Amino acid sequence: LTPHEPVPVVTLDGPSGSGKGTVGLRLARRLGWHFLDSGALYRLLALRAAQSGMDAKDTAGLSRLAETMDVAFEPQTDASLRILLDGREVGEALRTEDNGRRASLVAALPEVRRALLKKQHSLRRSPGLVADGRDMGTVVFPDAILKVYLTASPEIRAERRYKQLMEKGFDVNLRRLLEEIHERDARDSERGVSPLKPARDAWILDTSALSISEVTDRIYGRLQQKWPQAARPGKGPDKREV
Ligand code: DC
Repeated sequence: LTPHEPVPVVTLDGPSGSGKGTVGLRLARRLGWHFLDSGALYRLLALRAAQSGMDAKDTAGLSRLAETMDVAFEPQTDASLRILLDGREVGEALRTEDNGRRASLVAALPEVRRALLKKQHSLRRSPGLVADGRDMGTVVFPDAILKVYLTASPEIRAERRYKQLMEKGFDVNLRRLLEEIHERDARDSERGVSPLKPARDAWILDTSALSISEVTDRIYGRLQQKWPQAARPGKGPDKREV
């Protein structure tokens, strides 16, 4: 990359449970690129606000918090993600359904989205960025070299979420999860600002019948076609890592 070339970005958008988080992490590891979990930014903000007793509608307070949060994403060799908030590792409280609901409410506030935009742009660093979220290709990185929109049926997504949460020791109910997915989909796709929808130039990939590895391989292949420089110099894809 010359100093004049923008840092390449691959965007992965789609509803929760479409597999984009896991796929994005694997892709970032394989490419040796940075990773942005934008959903985690909204979750971090919601968690911080709740912990400090802030009102969920205090847009000025939330925006200030959004601007001053120091967040770092560190993909690990086992394709898990280490998230640091103000230098300290954040635990599972981020991923609870309760906090997901709070995050979804916070994410509907235009001022908050604006405050987080700068933060997201600041994470675009050489040699490249894989950005995972809802509006990565449409709003945050409209000049991405590859935009992918991942989908899967609500039932499949509920099942995936169920397994994920059970493995982490959470006591969950599959029917309730499915209801929550329907509710969250409606809220995320019907809201006025940055609704969940594919970018006009996005590649839409239904992952219902595909494994994580199959999805990752397909996206990696597509990226190679569009951007052959994406292969790590002299190394090629390091499949053992993921
Ligand atoms: O992907 P997730 O479940 O961690 O996201 C949490 C919430 O944040 C979800 O309700 C949608 C919202 N979100 C958003 O509005 N824009 C993004 N780019 C990412 C997430």
